[in-house]
Amino acid sequence: MPDPARSPVRPGYHPVHPWPLRLMHWLNATAIVIMIGSGWQIYDAAPLFPFTFPGSVTIGEWLGGAIAWHFAAMWLLVLNGISYLVWGSLSGHFRRKLRPPGPRAIWRDVVLALTFRLDHRHGVYNAVQRALYLAVIGLGILAVASGVAVWKPVQLWWLSDLFGGFRASRYVHFFAMAGIVSFLTVHLLLVALVPKVLWPMIAGGRVQEDAR
Ligand code: HEM
Repeated sequence: MPDPARSPVRPGYHPVHPWPLRLMHWLNATAIVIMIGSGWQIYDAAPLFPFTFPGSVTIGEWLGGAIAWHFAAMWLLVLNGISYLVWGSLSGHFRRKLRPPGPRAIWRDVVLALTFRLDHRHGVYNAVQRALYLAVIGLGILAVASGVAVWKPVQLWWLSDLFGGFRASRYVHFFAMAGIVSFLTVHLLLVALVPKVLWPMIAGGRVQEDAR
């Protein structure tokens, strides 16, 4: 039987990842990388902890340049993120693909993954993936909300207060970033371990209807 992932368009087959998802995923990845690099440069101007990020991994050269990058990418991140949440809800993508897994399912898949017995079917996310994806969506929302609280602590004092004030909002913003960086490390490691998942996220791929 021909590999469905390589077949031309045929009835009964669908893209593993539809084009809106792919477009939004890569726009998000671009925005996140710029947000993190420029955020580290901004952090270096007034560090919260006794360390700074080396210039080789920061974006923007200096505080003013980094802020310009951070805000430009912020609009891309927010508009793209809202589009993803609306599209994911209306298209049924979240219901079909990102159902929150229970702790038992997560534990089962962790054990299977650690013993290299976890199967991967194109277009189906295992419990660990679903938990990680839902966590990073939550962290993204937290990063944006705490960032807005740091940006407008006077006008949006209630948001700032929700996080415990201006300084606490900075800590929340920092730890949301740290969570996203941790996600990204695991995410890229999993893609490196199962590289066949990468091409469908770029070109769409093909999968039979029941695996959607
Ligand atoms: C920069 C390099 C990146 C690569 C190479 C990459 C690769 C991938 C691939 C291959 C998948 C599909 C996995 C599968 O079919 O099993 C995926 C899905 C996903 N990635 Fe990434 N990714 C990257 C960056 C990011 C970033 C920065 C985020 C968010 C902070 C992210 C969040 C997600 C999410 C939430 C999904 C699931 C999307 C959905 O179905 O709704 N990725 N990624």
